[in-house]
Amino acid sequence: MTPTGTTLAARLRAGFVQAFGAAPQIAARAPGRVNLIGEHTDYNQGFAMPMAIGPETRVAFTPQAGGRLYVAALDFGEDDAFDPARVGPHQGGGWRNYVRGVVDELNRAGIAVPGGTLAIAGSLARGTGLSSSASLEVALAHALLAAAGADWTALDIALLAQRAECGFPGVRCGNLDQIASAATRAGHALLIDCRSLALRQIVLPGDLAVMIVQSGVERGLVDGEYNTRRIECERAAAHLGVAALRDADDAMLAAAKATLDDRAWHRARHVIGDNRRTLEAAEALAADDLVTTGRLMREAHVSQAHDFGITVPDTDRLAALLDHAIGDEGGARQTGGGFGGAVVAIMRADRVEAVRAAVLDGYRTPTGALPDITVEAPADGAGITSV
Ligand code: GLA
Repeated sequence: MTPTGTTLAARLRAGFVQAFGAAPQIAARAPGRVNLIGEHTDYNQGFAMPMAIGPETRVAFTPQAGGRLYVAALDFGEDDAFDPARVGPHQGGGWRNYVRGVVDELNRAGIAVPGGTLAIAGSLARGTGLSSSASLEVALAHALLAAAGADWTALDIALLAQRAECGFPGVRCGNLDQIASAATRAGHALLIDCRSLALRQIVLPGDLAVMIVQSGVERGLVDGEYNTRRIECERAAAHLGVAALRDADDAMLAAAKATLDDRAWHRARHVIGDNRRTLEAAEALAADDLVTTGRLMREAHVSQAHDFGITVPDTDRLAALLDHAIGDEGGARQTGGGFGGAVVAIMRADRVEAVRAAVLDGYRTPTGALPDITVEAPADGAGITSV
């Protein structure tokens, strides 16, 4: 277990005992993820390639048949309580609806969720594009399924977690985040075919460093913009006469230049390009070719900026600064849903200190602070842990 995992597990256990007066019976964890390449491709039924990271969410649970479910969110000092057999959304929104959403989806899948006591703790910063909500949903699904004696595949857990996020929280997300949290393996990136759900584990080079730099730009109005991008992509697909942009190609796009509205045309160009780049990057990474992978990441950032309109000046600047510091073997791009958040960079491990120094020297967050920089090793996907 990583040092972070050990600390978090101890904090969770102690918090559970303090909240409920006894040790928990079941515990589960699920990691956050960083998407290496393939952005806004998942809901277009295309390709994405994330890896799991060290920061994660853990839950601890003691079931008690028939009663209410008492939930303590240790990081917020907040709680919730409801009847798991008759769960509805919480009007206040926030973390409670992720929990309630998972319980609701399990009920719909025929799993009788027992009452009991549940505590949640995490080491993922929220709102930074590293999937704290997906990791909560996936960890929770693991714990509740274990309590019910059900043995689901990682993929089925991920799809349930995705439905939970689309339900009470109301985000029309794709399946990338939840699959990444549930089905990744240590030492690997995961190439996801978001339509067929075929998964390919990509062994990452031993001396690959994956750096995540927080721009410090908070992702405002994200859900609205996210849903708008989806609508634009659907408009483009309908115009091109395909079920999803996954099925479109450059020739179709060129033929539609005069008839498809400009905005939808550019959205489609990003998705078509990012699907291709993701497949190429998977081959390049598997072949230890960081020159090609880095070029593809740089191209992906430009496409996100100019065609998909989801970067901001600070992440553009940060990505350019990273690219310059990294040199040829590697590259950087804004990662996640967009409008700020984190920039991910890959490089050889021996470049890390020089690149870190260049970022600390050349970038300040909007409040003038030094950016948060971490180097992440590809972590294992979610599972049950010892309590
Ligand atoms: C968010 C969504 C994902 C995916 C990414 C963009 O993280 O939850 O489903 O669409 O944005 O790639």
